[in-house]
Amino acid sequence: MQNGARYPSLVDQGIFITGGATGIGAALVRAFAEQNAQVTFVDLQQEAGDALVAKLGDRVTFHRLDITDTDALQQAVTDANERTKLGVLINNAANDMRHVPGDMTPGQWRDCLAINLDPAFFAAQTAAPIMARNGGGAIINFSSINAILGPSNMPGYVSAKAGLIGMTKALAKDYGADMVRVNVISPGWVVTQRQLATWLTPAEEADWMEQVALPKRLMPEDVASLALFLASDDSSMITGQNFTIDGGRT
Ligand SMILES: NC(=O)c1ccc[n+]([C@@H]2O[C@H](COP(=O)([O-])OP(=O)(O)OC[C@H]3O[C@@H](n4cnc5c(N)ncnc54)[C@H](O)[C@@H]3O)[C@@H](O)[C@H]2O)c1
Repeated sequence: MQNGARYPSLVDQGIFITGGATGIGAALVRAFAEQNAQVTFVDLQQEAGDALVAKLGDRVTFHRLDITDTDALQQAVTDANERTKLGVLINNAANDMRHVPGDMTPGQWRDCLAINLDPAFFAAQTAAPIMARNGGGAIINFSSINAILGPSNMPGYVSAKAGLIGMTKALAKDYGADMVRVNVISPGWVVTQRQLATWLTPAEEADWMEQVALPKRLMPEDVASLALFLASDDSSMITGQNFTIDGGRT
């Protein structure tokens, strides 16, 4: 699927995306590059990141880093603004790790939040004042419908994703006076290569199709279309909101 709409306000806009090498993140990188934005993305996966840059050309820059390294993440946001005027931060990277609550150690709990919650705050902490100096901007966090459905055996991930909705509302208030908007996207089950390889079995998919209003696969590009709108000036009076994209599952 191609993203159809054109957003003039995104042309040459500096965009920073975490977890952009694969999955929804890669669709985000592609979609913003197609709008002629200047995209910087970070990820752990060197090979996939390099391959995406090779495909998309010099509007796209990739750095391998672990978003749990707060200093490296914040430095990468600052560096991205040196290259391109930063206007958009997308906190996309995550790890939907599973844990049986009774077996979860304090270290596993901490690790889960360190990947799924903390980096969104610390990236925003660096990006928002930069965006303010640049005249405003948009921060987009990624939650999940699981924050509301609360499925079993992923208490850490669900807690982090619920936290991101609250964080979005809080930061929207904190940064609004500087014209920095903060919104959150909550996808349903998005058909990425990783989901197909790990959790989305044919039986699970048939079950999902029974539960949605639109019995069609939800693709990374569908989510990217929503992110483009929320990043653009076309959504300039929208902040502090949670946008569910789930084919009508919830
Ligand atoms: N795919 C879905 O069905 C679905 C559903 C609801 C919400 N979401 C959310 O959407 C976002 C993207 O989902 P996805 O399915 O593409 O995720 P994914 O797990 O497939 O990919 C995330 C990307 O983040 C990278 N990453 C993971 N840990 C990292 C770290 N410590 N440092 C740097 N990079 C790291 C991975 O290498 C990967 O490229 C996530 O926030 C996820 O929670 C996804």
